[in-house]
Amino acid sequence: MILQVDNLVKSFDGFIAVAGVSFQVEKGELCSMIGPNGAGKTTLFNMITGHLPLGKGRVVFNGMDISKLPGHKICRLGLGRSFQRINIFSSLTVFENIQAAVLTHRGKSLSFFTSVQPLFQEETEEILVSVGLQDHRDAVSGSLAYGFQKQLELGIALASNPIMLLLDEPTAGMSRQETKATIELIGKIVREKGLTLLFTEHDMSVVFSISERIMVLHQGQLIASGPPDEVRTNQDVQKIYIGESRCS
Ligand SMILES: Nc1ncnc2c1ncn2[C@@H]1O[C@H](COP(=O)(O)OP(=O)(O)O)[C@@H](O)[C@H]1O
Ligand SMILES: [Mg+2]
Repeated sequence: MILQVDNLVKSFDGFIAVAGVSFQVEKGELCSMIGPNGAGKTTLFNMITGHLPLGKGRVVFNGMDISKLPGHKICRLGLGRSFQRINIFSSLTVFENIQAAVLTHRGKSLSFFTSVQPLFQEETEEILVSVGLQDHRDAVSGSLAYGFQKQLELGIALASNPIMLLLDEPTAGMSRQETKATIELIGKIVREKGLTLLFTEHDMSVVFSISERIMVLHQGQLIASGPPDEVRTNQDVQKIYIGESRCS
């Protein structure tokens, strides 16, 4: 087991967003978390990755209790994440963004006075290729098409050399086709590098085609967890998705 989440609870001004969630993820698993908007997925991911303090409960990652650690320390232990919103330096090139992330992970800071930085060139190039951005290496990140910006975000997450990735809506705002291609790319990277993946996604066909296991969150509670076929036929799950035009 690589991740163990025990009884996480979060409330905002009396509103319970995460209502006692427990689950485990095995090493090498590709799993997703779905649930209608407002179900608590982002809050839960923020708690696991140290971006929101835990009210109650415990998170154990790779054998270590990370419940009280800040986000950057958790990232250093190998739990990489991306954010639902784009989180890149828009004035830097694609190459520089990934390089900056690699440097940050190595505890060095990028000098903005030097135009060409030879540091970690090879590693940066390798990440560029794995996320399919080699043809855009010198593009200013802010000018990239949205889909490419999301690919860059993935590259930034990979720069921390994670053993597990937590991706919150890695395809938010993408077309159906871009979504499919991006999730397939993520699946390929995760398998090739032997990583573990937990992601949220609103396109159900993509979720059901790639996930080995799907967890369903509803009003802050996990109501189902299992392989796609089992979740698809689960009556509670069917009930919450009836009438939902969009779920994530
Ligand atoms: N910082 C916050 N302050 C108040 N309410 C919040 C905050 N963050 C999230 N919420 C509320 O918690 C619930 C869960 O939100 P969220 O975790 O973003 O759900 P999801 O990612 O599944 O759409 C929502 O009702 C949301 O409005
Ligand atoms: Mg969310």
